[in-house]
Amino acid sequence: MGYYYQDSSLFCEGLKVKDIIERVGQTPFYLYSAGQITANYRAYSESLVGIPSVISYAVKANGNLKILKLLRSLGSWVTLASGNELKLALEAGFEPEQAILNGNGKTLEELRLVIELGAIVNVDSEFDLIHIQRVAGELNTRAKVLIRVNPDIDPEVHPYISTGLLSSKFGVAVNEAVEMVKSLAGMQSVQLLGVHCHLGSNLNNIAVYQRALTVLIELFQIAKEVSDRVRYINLGGGWGIDYHHDNVKVPSPQELIQSIRWMIPKDVTLILEPGRSIVGNAGVLVCRVIGVKDRGDRRFIVVDGSMAELIRPSLYGAYHKAGFVEEVNRDPVRYDIVGPVCESADFLGKDRLLPPPNEGAGVAIFDAGAYGYVMSSNYNGRASPAEYLVYGDQLFQIRKREGFEDHLRLFDEREIL
Ligand SMILES: Cc1ncc(COP(=O)(O)O)c(C=O)c1O
Repeated sequence: MGYYYQDSSLFCEGLKVKDIIERVGQTPFYLYSAGQITANYRAYSESLVGIPSVISYAVKANGNLKILKLLRSLGSWVTLASGNELKLALEAGFEPEQAILNGNGKTLEELRLVIELGAIVNVDSEFDLIHIQRVAGELNTRAKVLIRVNPDIDPEVHPYISTGLLSSKFGVAVNEAVEMVKSLAGMQSVQLLGVHCHLGSNLNNIAVYQRALTVLIELFQIAKEVSDRVRYINLGGGWGIDYHHDNVKVPSPQELIQSIRWMIPKDVTLILEPGRSIVGNAGVLVCRVIGVKDRGDRRFIVVDGSMAELIRPSLYGAYHKAGFVEEVNRDPVRYDIVGPVCESADFLGKDRLLPPPNEGAGVAIFDAGAYGYVMSSNYNGRASPAEYLVYGDQLFQIRKREGFEDHLRLFDEREIL
């Protein structure tokens, strides 16, 4: 669907990536396949047929406005990590009622924005609930909330993306959540709509999801006694993707949903909040080889993409498959793929068996559609890269590359009065 090799060339849908590089001129850039995003979304929506449900795309994975518009056109809601993400979602045409704000440290300003517009808020702590009550009271309205429970279940993923254990900063413990739910009975400023949890990211163990759902169903039953408006169980996001492209299988969203379908009570509307599994494999970071360095014991392919554009390898030791956009017919050797940033942590791949490339060769870092651009930085004075979207055989620029003028714009000096 999205990316494939044909006659030694890498394609994104109907276009050769080499031709795209020539057309756009400047690397590195992000490239996305609209068809792959659509297929990934439909993998969820088609499997959910028969279950009252909502797919609420987690904007934090990739917040490009055009991608948000595409997902809205497919019927998605949005899960947000900040007030600015809500503004972005509104810009993309989502209704506030189709938005869910998360976060362990929502500011009063963010809460004001979200509650005034009527979006749903996930309550993350006791102080968060107090802030929500205060803001809703000031606005003379009722905030719509889900209680985020931390079920203390190990999602078996990298600790930096694990949120389901009590050692993480997210959510309220199960016993506290029960008390919190009960405390909302008859509360004027807060309307309880359901319960939420998010175990972490890049999960691939169905049993872990089933255990979390069991906890949520119990809490849901208690919540039903508190308010007749309670209808949502929000199981969060976090489904993984096959970064290694090997035969160690990550179950598909279809398999995940099939395995929990029987557990869902009839009166529940299920919310899922996928991010990575919607956009991850739909994006690649396209770079070019600057040079090849051979020190005998260690060899490096130095590319023009770096940890500033894709930080996942440096931050989490994450694996991204890498390949040349035109296959090279030479005997492979072991290389580290590194960028030009002044850090030894600046690598996109370690110890990869690849044929020696020529300078200028195009390199694709696969599965970079989620937590790629959104986590990029200007470190070492680097410009944020452009983003392009392919629909069939059409190519669209969906974000400009940052110019030096953009960089300078924020440096204006003012006297503070
Ligand atoms: C509450 C919540 N929902 C959904 C997601 C999306 O997770 P993923 O992109 O792994 O599907 C996240 C990400 O951490 C999250 O915190």
